[in-house]
Amino acid sequence: MERTLAMIKPDGLSGNHMEKIKEVILDSGFEIVEEAVVQLDAQRASLFYVEHSSRSFFDSLVKYMTSGPVLVMILERPDAILHWRVLIGPTDARKAKTSHPNSIRAMCGVDSEKNCVHGSDSPQSAAREILFFFGDVRSDTVEHDEL
Ligand code: PPS
Repeated sequence: MERTLAMIKPDGLSGNHMEKIKEVILDSGFEIVEEAVVQLDAQRASLFYVEHSSRSFFDSLVKYMTSGPVLVMILERPDAILHWRVLIGPTDARKAKTSHPNSIRAMCGVDSEKNCVHGSDSPQSAAREILFFFGDVRSDTVEHDEL
């Protein structure tokens, strides 16, 4: 089993795409282990996207990611990281609509910024991103089991 961090971005939530996206998630064999609605502020959004801080679009990305709440989820299934990245499609939703018409970004994204969903791109980023939003979920579980 593997876990990944999935996020429905502000345009995904405000466009009422959450139910459909969750349906795709469950139909694709994922378990939603944890979920939370979060309003990011500029500091937290900048920290989450710190690896892109030198890119020209960074300020715009942070502004967009703080424009409304996001839904973050820990998804679990075999090969969860790769499987979720394939399901969401390419970063640029305009390209997704032609090259991956069945992808989630083709369904509900607009462009490279408003692209509806996020997915961790490696085991290292999945671990970092799950910790970022949910803390140490494993030790929470151990404590719970020990009660
Ligand atoms: S990836 O998946 O990391 O290779 O994609 P990348 O193109 O490097 O993009 C990283 C994140 O930056 C967002 N992005 C943008 N935001 C605003 N404007 C522009 N032009 C832009 N291009 C890329 C993109 O949505 C990626 O966010 P996440 O949440 O990681 O998908």
